[in-house]
Amino acid sequence: MTGWRVSNRVTGLEGMRNMIVKHALALAISVAASPLLAQPTPIKMSVAADGTGPKIDRNIFGQFAENLGTGIYGGVWVGEDSSIPNVRGMRSDVVSALKALKVPSVRWPGGCFADEYHWRDGVGPRAKRAVTVNGSWGNALEKNDFGTDEFFDFLNQIESEAYISVNMGSGSAKEAADWMAYMTADPGTTAGAERAANGHREPYRVKFLGIGNESWSCGGAYSADYYVDEMKRYARFTRNLNIQQQGTDNPAGGSVAGTDPMQRIAVGPGSLDTAYTEAVMKAWKGHDWSWSIEGLSMHNYTWMSWPPSFSSIDFGEREYAMLIKDTLKMEDMIRVHSAVMDKYDPAKKVPLVIDEWGVWLAKLPGSRDGFLHQQNSIRDAIIASINLNMFTRHADRVRMTVIAQMVNVLQAMILTDGPRMVLTPTYHLFKMYVPFQNATRLPIDFDAGTYSFGDVRVPRIDAIAARGTDGKLWIVLTNVDPSKPAEIDAQIACIRVGAASGTVLTADRVDAINSFDKPDTVAPRPISARVNGGRLQVTLPPKSVTVLSVTP
Ligand code: AHR
Repeated sequence: MTGWRVSNRVTGLEGMRNMIVKHALALAISVAASPLLAQPTPIKMSVAADGTGPKIDRNIFGQFAENLGTGIYGGVWVGEDSSIPNVRGMRSDVVSALKALKVPSVRWPGGCFADEYHWRDGVGPRAKRAVTVNGSWGNALEKNDFGTDEFFDFLNQIESEAYISVNMGSGSAKEAADWMAYMTADPGTTAGAERAANGHREPYRVKFLGIGNESWSCGGAYSADYYVDEMKRYARFTRNLNIQQQGTDNPAGGSVAGTDPMQRIAVGPGSLDTAYTEAVMKAWKGHDWSWSIEGLSMHNYTWMSWPPSFSSIDFGEREYAMLIKDTLKMEDMIRVHSAVMDKYDPAKKVPLVIDEWGVWLAKLPGSRDGFLHQQNSIRDAIIASINLNMFTRHADRVRMTVIAQMVNVLQAMILTDGPRMVLTPTYHLFKMYVPFQNATRLPIDFDAGTYSFGDVRVPRIDAIAARGTDGKLWIVLTNVDPSKPAEIDAQIACIRVGAASGTVLTADRVDAINSFDKPDTVAPRPISARVNGGRLQVTLPPKSVTVLSVTP
């Protein structure tokens, strides 16, 4: 063995973790013993095409659009009078790019901003809306041009679902309930009539409701117990009144079941501290008919240390390796908090919702403080791949995640500059993963090997396999090593491989980016695997992610 063995036949990603300890010894032995060190030996892999595993919920591919910097203003909303082509104020280039990603849900309006957001400021005629200050993010002027109705119009244009975060910091349960009534009540009610007067007669669908955000910090700095008491009130009274979606809730009888209930997501951890996880899950276990939650949030960024100081441009292999290693702490976060959840919820009814993750780097030179504007390189795409692979390995508990963020903020899919738009490596990566939405994870087994730089040692290869809803077998192969290609020799149990082809995302340098002038430096290219005696063989370029579909 020369590295981490990854197998979700038996142990899932635990295999990758557990092997860290064994790895140093094994590597030393193999280095001393192998006369063929210079010759790369193929990495043996086996995929059980006839096996089965949990569903990879498509909500794992959710996104976050906070009222922050140019994430909304300039990035999504340009206004109806803009010279930038738009439909009712939403820029058409961004909408059409996002539509291709099949984004399952969009979290809005924050983040920290959510706990300062008062929904009434953002409804009704735009000329009369309140002008406020975004105290969370750079004290930017917030004209509230993009409010509730614009958000749902945007969702409608990109064909996605709403994940609304209500204000539990500076707001009240009544304000949240009133907002929900505005969004979801029948037009025969006063709240629904106001929505209809603002242009939308039919109730909106609120698929996910976030009850607070980081309430242990920017959302109010509440103790876990105080949060739980408040959360129960919000869970009870912030009602979704859309009858088609939610049904009626009448414990005295006569209730009508809705077909697509909203999921309420409580605040959970943002570190290895389990206080919130314990308090929320303990309360959930003891809940009565009057309230519940259908998700526990967790936030975890790749940032090395706070405040983030690593650059998103012009960096070298050292920074590449260190951030890859920092990404692997996500595994510890999932493991530690899942264990607490298992204690109260062994049947895994409550999903762990990782609703903020991604690479958080230093702001770009010249960009405004508090706007969290960074570039996006092949390193970010590889980190996204490592995270997404990890989520699928925990698909029984991790059934929803939200990358931070969608446009122009943190690890963005898209960057804009006035009328110009560029798709980032992370955008391309997300597009390559579309076939994994709602796919069934399949058992896979391989020796991950090791990539090392200085004192950093991390798994060199990562991979997942799944049966797509299209019936095809799909495989992701991630080569973390920035200099060495990797030979994969895969046996696909129970099918004789006929052909395998797909796309590969790679670049010449670890800091390769797409700029407005050179938008295609990091773009997916076609790749084919060799088929040899029914086995699949493929050469993975250094620092690359390959997605293959396999046909018998
Ligand atoms: O995504 C940026 C910020 O990070 C969010 O507003 C907050 O929830 C987190 O601290």
